[in-house]
Amino acid sequence: MNLPNMADAKRRTKKEIKILYDDYNSDEYSELGKDKKYLILTYGCQMNVHDSENIAGIMEDVGYTRTEDMDEANVIIVNTCAIRENAHNKAEGMLGRIKHLKETKDITVIFCGCMAQEEKLVNKIVKNKWIDIICGTHNYHKIPEYIAKLNKEKNICEVYSMEGDVIENLPVTRDSLYTAWVNIQYGCDKFCTYCIVPYTRGKQRSRLSEDIINEVRELYNNGYSEVTLLGQNVNAYGKDFDNGYDFATLLGEVSQTGIPRIRFVTSHPWDFTDKMIEVISKCDNIMPYIHLPIQSGSDRILKLMGRKYTIKEYLELVKKIRDHIPNVSITTDIIVGFPGETEEDFEMTLDIVNKVKYDLAYTFIYSPRESTPAASMKDDTPLSVKKGRLARLNELINKYALESNQKMLNNTYNVLLIGESDKKNKFMGYTENMKLVNVKCDESYVGKIVPVKITDVKTWSLDGEINDR
Ligand code: SAH
Ligand code: SF4
Ligand code: F3S
Repeated sequence: MNLPNMADAKRRTKKEIKILYDDYNSDEYSELGKDKKYLILTYGCQMNVHDSENIAGIMEDVGYTRTEDMDEANVIIVNTCAIRENAHNKAEGMLGRIKHLKETKDITVIFCGCMAQEEKLVNKIVKNKWIDIICGTHNYHKIPEYIAKLNKEKNICEVYSMEGDVIENLPVTRDSLYTAWVNIQYGCDKFCTYCIVPYTRGKQRSRLSEDIINEVRELYNNGYSEVTLLGQNVNAYGKDFDNGYDFATLLGEVSQTGIPRIRFVTSHPWDFTDKMIEVISKCDNIMPYIHLPIQSGSDRILKLMGRKYTIKEYLELVKKIRDHIPNVSITTDIIVGFPGETEEDFEMTLDIVNKVKYDLAYTFIYSPRESTPAASMKDDTPLSVKKGRLARLNELINKYALESNQKMLNNTYNVLLIGESDKKNKFMGYTENMKLVNVKCDESYVGKIVPVKITDVKTWSLDGEINDR
């Protein structure tokens, strides 16, 4: 049994990062899932969504078939997120349901992801014993081995609180046939004071560029039109190499593969270079969409958050991006109610939203996280005040989201259609600058990039029709 340890998870040494090409081996387990079904539930960010694609690939590689029906599943995998309290609550609610189910039939339950890296929580759930396997974010490739061992051991808890390696060559079952996630780096070394990710995901480690480019090439050859390069800080890519190979260079090389659309998330304002802006503006297949989390509009709060940029620098960066990348969309993340945030600090956040006029923003009430420095900062703002701030912020964000969409009305944009819309008889897709469009068309357009005329706009989406004139 290996229980998580937050002090170990925080450690950053000069240890060399290992790139492991042969660490996943399923030969022994190829019959493990014969006539059995697995179900996977995913919470959290794109990183988790893509990890779940790898877990699905692994389960299928050892013979399981997928089901979306809980009553049919022999194995239920819960891939969890630890970023805020409500992410916890959602996963815990689901665990309650699964526990009931397990009382009525024989199922194997696997609890993995970022919550599984949390020391206090795992120390608690490990005692309950009803969860068969607890597995952290570093060792998904060993899931078949853990399942096989369950014959002899009753419960398994294998969580490594370590800096981490790069595990290559994992099987993958992707959710889409047209757009694909491609990891370029794992972990995070930024240690923003509110954030648990550096503890749950380990040290920043970049994949080798040739492995990334080969993956993109293969996706393109297999008919994919879009890749999203993934990392907690994509633009810190390569900082762990010390050979000058950076994110801008990688972007340029990925562009050369010829894949029609390249996106990337998330960029940290701290590492956003002029060279990146130049490459994005030069390469037509790098999409004009930048998610640039600001977190707060107050320099004082940014400093307490450990974000290491000032509002002045952030605004200069936004200006440079807008000057060089035509039709660029800029979106952001904002936290309200960070410990010690005053009304004045909050108004500075509103002020920055008024200046940048974001295309969209994800807004959150600060949530204290285990072992992070901010969790022990004095926080005397009542929740009701924080909720009031969030509502005021959202109102402003929505106003600018609608305004930016209105500018697109009656114009025609290229849209990659990716599937059915939840609006009746429509299909959905994204413009180059990442606007969601519901399009009235027939199914044959799905998977294609087509010109779409915008016929109506809402705050969160656009409506359109194919414009093939
Ligand atoms: N690596 C990305 C963010 C990943 S987490 C970046 O640095 O931009 C996604 C967002 O969750 C963060 O941008 C932040 O706005 C929010 N978040 C992270 N920790 C939080 C916490 N403790 N409370 C509230 N929101 C948080
Ligand atoms: Fe968290 Fe900051 Fe790292 Fe983003 S950069 S994952 S907010 S510590
Ligand atoms: Fe959540 Fe882990 Fe992503 S904490 S936001 S799933 S990196």
